[in-house]
Amino acid sequence: MNEFLNVALPKGRLGERVYKMFAQAGFPCDELLDPKRKLIFENPEAGVRYFWVKPSDVPVYVERGAADVGVAGKDILLEYQPDIYELLDLNVGKCRMCVAAPNGFRDDPDRTLRVATEFPRIARTYYGARSRDIDIIRLHGSIEIAPILDLTDVIVDIVETGTTLRENDLSPIETIVPISARLISNKVSFQFKHESIQRLYDDLKAQVEAKAKEEAAK
Ligand code: PRP
Repeated sequence: MNEFLNVALPKGRLGERVYKMFAQAGFPCDELLDPKRKLIFENPEAGVRYFWVKPSDVPVYVERGAADVGVAGKDILLEYQPDIYELLDLNVGKCRMCVAAPNGFRDDPDRTLRVATEFPRIARTYYGARSRDIDIIRLHGSIEIAPILDLTDVIVDIVETGTTLRENDLSPIETIVPISARLISNKVSFQFKHESIQRLYDDLKAQVEAKAKEEAAK
């Protein structure tokens, strides 16, 4: 029986880039890149079915087994700590989790630090390790506005090019952790669909290594 490998991809630019790696690894389904609003696609010949999901939902689909494998940012994995296997660093979607503050900000260690973030667990772990007293305000986007309006003192957020910070008169003050996209697998699927997951893993790993070599030679 030709069993499908179910793949949850993060909707957006990163997902499209990762899809190309999956296609090259022998799991093509070009209909996926059609600019329509369909969210599920399958290619029976290649034995693959893809779904586009919100990036932060990928681990939910994979943990619950609705998807066998998926691609999620390390930020999402650190924040939600899903019970999945993290198989491979795909070395794409690279950015960093940072603390950022208004230009010229000086921390007063005697005061509780007010922190705006979409990543409360990451922020709590980071400041907890430094025994810093904080008050977390959880937001769901446009985090950069919080210190401008004096809702908080700092933000904990993803920085890629740094443009969003610069345009809002903020500067990164500490890097918490580097981030990149990871191949993840459902634990049961990893046993029962081992052959196709292994084939996918081996090819993606070869692609990542080839690209790293190419970059090192530049
Ligand atoms: C992320 C992040 C920053 C921005 C950083 O937001 O929250 O706002 O990217 O990128 P830059 O350093 O290249 O400017 P995203 O666009 O993912 O949307 P979000 O605000 O909904 O999280």
